Amino acid sequence: MNAPTHAEPFDFDGAYGGDYEYIARTVIPGYRSSFRQALALLRGRLGPRPRVLVVGAGTGIEMVTFKTAEPGWRLSGVDPSRQMIDIAEHRMREAGVADGVRLVHGHVSDLEEGDFDAATCFNVMHFLPDDGAKQSLLRDIARCLAPGAPFLLFELHGDREGPRFDELFAAWSRYWEIQGMGETERAAFRAKIEEGIHWASEARLLELLAGEGFEDAWRYYRALLYGAWISRRAR
Ligand SMILES: C[S@@+](CC[C@H](N)C(=O)[O-])C[C@H]1O[C@@H](n2cnc3c(N)ncnc32)[C@H](O)[C@@H]1O
Repeated sequence: MNAPTHAEPFDFDGAYGGDYEYIARTVIPGYRSSFRQALALLRGRLGPRPRVLVVGAGTGIEMVTFKTAEPGWRLSGVDPSRQMIDIAEHRMREAGVADGVRLVHGHVSDLEEGDFDAATCFNVMHFLPDDGAKQSLLRDIARCLAPGAPFLLFELHGDREGPRFDELFAAWSRYWEIQGMGETERAAFRAKIEEGIHWASEARLLELLAGEGFEDAWRYYRALLYGAWISRRAR
């Protein structure tokens, strides 16, 4: 297995990973509903027993949401963090939705070619530098998908030099405060963001998707610096 590719400040095998879901609920506008939105979009595009790939399975919240609503879906979750896989495994068992679910400790490149009818990648790609790593993740996902299969990407994004970035970032920081994050915690989180997030503009994300074999990409969600896009693997 390759070494985990997430940036060090976001230590998913350590304290950050252990607290991840609390932090995500606090800082990501629409975090919980994002998985139900994905479900709503995918439901309309998939048959009764689709094979769905969840890239960066994390704590398993996405897989529990899908499997509770759609017990027939065959889910595979992949994540390079042992701690996150263990949390997800426990979570699936606790929710009674572990049947028909596979959790892979590793990378998308470890999975079979063309095996999936859909894929999601939520809150992962912004940890990868735009030096070929973002491309390579998208290429690996495309390789796993059947032609025409939908792909949902949910990301922190923004053009740091663009006219609205500073205002959106300031509003996002105030959102953390409104959500109850204390001053020390906010300063620590801001330092992590500065060090560990590799920003890409929407235009760049669309370019990356098109370059790696995804077509008809369009944004279905935006809140402050978060966005979500649906596309499909080219036929
Ligand atoms: C911020 S969490 C997101 C988890 C979940 N998708 C969510 O939205 O709650 C990011 C996850 O991506 C995983 N990750 C980091 N690099 C990855 C990669 N190259 N491929 C797949 N997962 C990766 C991390 O280990 C972590 O569990």
